Formats: sequence, structure tokens, C-alpha cells
Amino acid sequence: MLNRETIIVLDFGGQYTHLISRRIRELGVYSEIQTYNIPPAELEKIPDIKGIIFSGGPNSVYERNSPIVSKELFTWCKRSKVPILGICYGHQLIPYILGGNVKRLDRREFGKTVLHVENKEDLFQGLNDNEIVWMSHGDQVLELPPGFEKIGYTDNCPIAAYRNINDRIYGVQFHIEVRHTEKGYKILENFVRGICGCKTSWEMENWIEEAIQNIRKRVGGAKVIMAVSGGVDSTVAAVLLHRVVGKNLYCIFVDNGLLRKKEAEEVISGFKRLNLPIHFVDAGEIFLGRLEGVADPEEKRRIIAETFIRIFEKKAKELENTWGKIEYLGQGTIYPDRVESAATSKTAVRIKSHHNVTLPEGMTLKLVEPLASLYKDEVRKVGKALGLSDDVIWRQPFPGPSLAVRIIGEVTEEKLSILREADTIIQEEIQKSSFRNRLWQSFAVLLPVKSVGVMGDARTYENVIAVRAVESEDAMTANFAKLDWDILERIASRIVNEVKGINRVVYDITNKPPSTVEWE
Ligand code: XMP
Repeated sequence: MLNRETIIVLDFGGQYTHLISRRIRELGVYSEIQTYNIPPAELEKIPDIKGIIFSGGPNSVYERNSPIVSKELFTWCKRSKVPILGICYGHQLIPYILGGNVKRLDRREFGKTVLHVENKEDLFQGLNDNEIVWMSHGDQVLELPPGFEKIGYTDNCPIAAYRNINDRIYGVQFHIEVRHTEKGYKILENFVRGICGCKTSWEMENWIEEAIQNIRKRVGGAKVIMAVSGGVDSTVAAVLLHRVVGKNLYCIFVDNGLLRKKEAEEVISGFKRLNLPIHFVDAGEIFLGRLEGVADPEEKRRIIAETFIRIFEKKAKELENTWGKIEYLGQGTIYPDRVESAATSKTAVRIKSHHNVTLPEGMTLKLVEPLASLYKDEVRKVGKALGLSDDVIWRQPFPGPSLAVRIIGEVTEEKLSILREADTIIQEEIQKSSFRNRLWQSFAVLLPVKSVGVMGDARTYENVIAVRAVESEDAMTANFAKLDWDILERIASRIVNEVKGINRVVYDITNKPPSTVEWE
């Protein structure tokens, strides 16, 4: 393990836990997430811990079975001179354990509110007297333990921030890791650089060096079969794995029959250019056969995920006969895939099962997922550092279950071909426009809705295409893109004129949250 200054984030199940760690890395300081109940003896093994942050979480501290930490952790931090910062649930947990009082609010507080800053000596250095912060809580701290003092309040929350200057323990009720807290980044920087005294700079190159060491340690001389899709995640993961295991890597690209127009050919030629060994499996018929009659989104995902893994296993067995034993399955899973499938912690809520993580029981290959702690923009930085071309790095994300989650209801060949044509038109128009490198994703969704239209002199009664185009930093949140009207008009008119079976186009103007990027 590399010796470097580290901020540990203890995970109490909050949806934003990983954002805390990511913001710290953006500050140029290494950070990693550990489960909330890690024993101090395990912390001892991490070389240079400079601070610990308690994350938010969905529980109430006073409920039975809520995640709590032991008093020994506080003793260890004091002895090791490691400052603590509690955020939201973490902010309530500290006084609860050390002898303060936490109570349920009559009404949950959610959204932006004004923080009145009472002390600007350390955590709030450089802040104004009043700052906008983002709250989301149903409990609050009513009394602080001895040695603690209040350093900020809001109109609804008398102890919105506190500190214990001797033991260097801090707490904030609001979320400093989200952009809605305007000075959140500054507060985090004050904690990490000012209070914890982190000095080093941690870059993506360090991450690569470390990832290579970790892969080497985990995989050793074993053979790896790697799932690739042509997207930035799996390509970067493949290049990284290839650096370590060389000819022990075998990339497999499965055409699930649900891909976009010409996608399969493009992916294969891209991999050839990268000199990575790739094998093509044409499995469209199998996937479509298994999806027949299935309309439920989670069921579609489950079937696609399972079929995908089974095909891999079959391929692995075939390969083993000639190539020798294969032990690992490489995947380009990134952090948001795991958050939204609730694989990161027991307490987070499941939103959608992303195929990378929902593995069928009894899978015999072991997983190696070198990008599992990164966000997409971090993966792009790694890709750049590894020398990948802009075409690969800036390719729009495409979901594992592919066009199946963009056809609402049952998937059929006919619907796929309609969707492919509509999608191609959207891509062509976006590529020609100034939105080209500004969108996170742009695509078509085929709705199971028919509407009346008129073409020539005839009445039509056909399906509707929804256009989705979003801007996002990491897909955890996304805003619909404010495309120019004339682009939308061109897209709509081309789709209706050129795609048989469509007579109406609508534009999706919802953000995430409350919607998601994909429709299913
Ligand atoms: P949602 O729809 O959850 O999408 O807001 C967030 C991002 O994830 C992509 N996505 C997936 N990627 N397997 C994947 O590999 C999946 O099952 C999956 N579902 C959504 C989506 O395209 C968007 O970029």
C-alpha cells in the first residue's frame, strides 16, 4: 500500500457518501470509504490517516439497530490526533454517543436554507455571516456534550454546526458535499487542509499506479476474461488490465442484439486499433428469445444480466480448453453503477439494478473491477492519462441493457429497428450542433403509445418517440439539455419523415432527480 495522507469516510448508508470522498480527491487529497464499524485496529493498518468523516445516512441514531460507532473510535482518534467531522447523520451520531441529546423534528427539513455562521476560526474560515446550505434531515441535535460549542444555526435548527476544539471534533447538519451548499467545497477544504493539515497533492497518475499494484496483487499470473462494450469504462478497464496481465487478458465483446446501428463493427475496429485481443460473440438471437413477452423493466434487466454472464461463462469454458484456466472476469463497473444498484451499503435504497453488479448466484468466475470507486469524469481522466483517443474518452455512456431499456414494454426486432433509426438521426443532428461535446447523453426512447397524425392527406395512427438529452457531471444528477428549438425541430421532422412507424416526437424536460436518465 502506498504511504500517503488519507481522509477516511465512514459510510453510514447515505446516497452521497461517495461524493464526500470524491470531493476530497478533487481537492487533491486521497480519500477512501470504509464501513462505519471498522475496528480501530484495522484503521491502524492504514498508513497516514489525517482525518475521519462520518457520512450521512437514512437512519435515526436512537433507533434500534442503527449504525453506530464505538467510543473506542473516539479514543483512538484522540490518541492518534485524528480530527473528526460528522455530516448529517454523522453530525447527530457524535453528540448521541458522547452524551448529548438528539430529537426527532416535528417536520422534516429538506432543501436550501440559510446558515448563520457564529464562528469563523477554523471550519467556517472565509465564510460570510449568512450562507446558503442544503439540509435533509428528520432529527436534530438539541444538546451538546461537555467540551462542545455551537458554531452555526439556522432558523429551524438551533445547532446546525458545532466543534470540540480540544478533541478536534466537528459536525455539520447540512450536506457540504452537494453543490447546493454554496460554500460546501470551502468548508471541506478548511477541514481537510486546515484542520487535518493535509499537504500532499494526489493526482490521477497516483491512482493509476496504485490500481496497477492492486490488480497485480489480486490477479497475479491468472488469466482474465474481460467484458468490453466499447464504452469508456470497459475500454479504460481493459487497457489497465492489459498493462498488468498482458497476454493473460482476453477481451470479449458480446453483441446482445440490442445495440445501436453499426455499433458492433465500430467497437471491434476500435479495439483492433488499440491492439487489444478481442473476440466477438454474436448472441442477438439468444437475448431476443429470452426477452420475448417480457415487459417489466427490472425483469428485462435481470434476464439481460443473467444471459450476459452465462454467455461469458460458456465462452470462458470454451477458451479454457485451448488457453488454460481462466479465473477472473474483468468489468468496467464504476461507482454510480454500484450506488444505484444499492451494492455499496446495506442501508442504501435500491433504485435500478445496473447489469454490471447484479450477478446471478453461482457465478464461477471471480470479479476484477479496477474502476469500481471512480466516477465517469475520473475514468475519463484515467483514460487520458493512459493515452486513449478523444473518440473513446468522450463517447457517450450507453447502458449495459442497451436499447432494451429504451423500448418501453416488450422488445421486438421491429421496435429495435425503429429505435435505431430514430437514434441515429438524433446522433447525427447533435454531432452537427454546438451541443456535440456538451451532452452527457442524447438518445431516443420508443413509447408504447399511439397517437393520431396526418401525413399527406391521410390519417396516421402510429407510435411516439421521446427524445432525451441531458447534461451531467457524473449521472448522479442530470439536467435536461436546453437544446435549441431548431435542432429539436430538425430532429422531430426528420424522425417523422424518415422513420416508418413514428408520427410524433416529444422532448423529455425532466431532471434527475426526480426522474432518471434512462426511462427504465
Ligand atoms: P439512470 O437511468 O439510472 O442512468 O439515471 C444513469 C447512467 O447510467 C446509465 N445506466 C446504466 N449503465 N447498466 C449500465 O451499465 C445499466 O443497467 C444502466 N442503467 C442506466 C445511463 O445510461 C446513465 O448514463
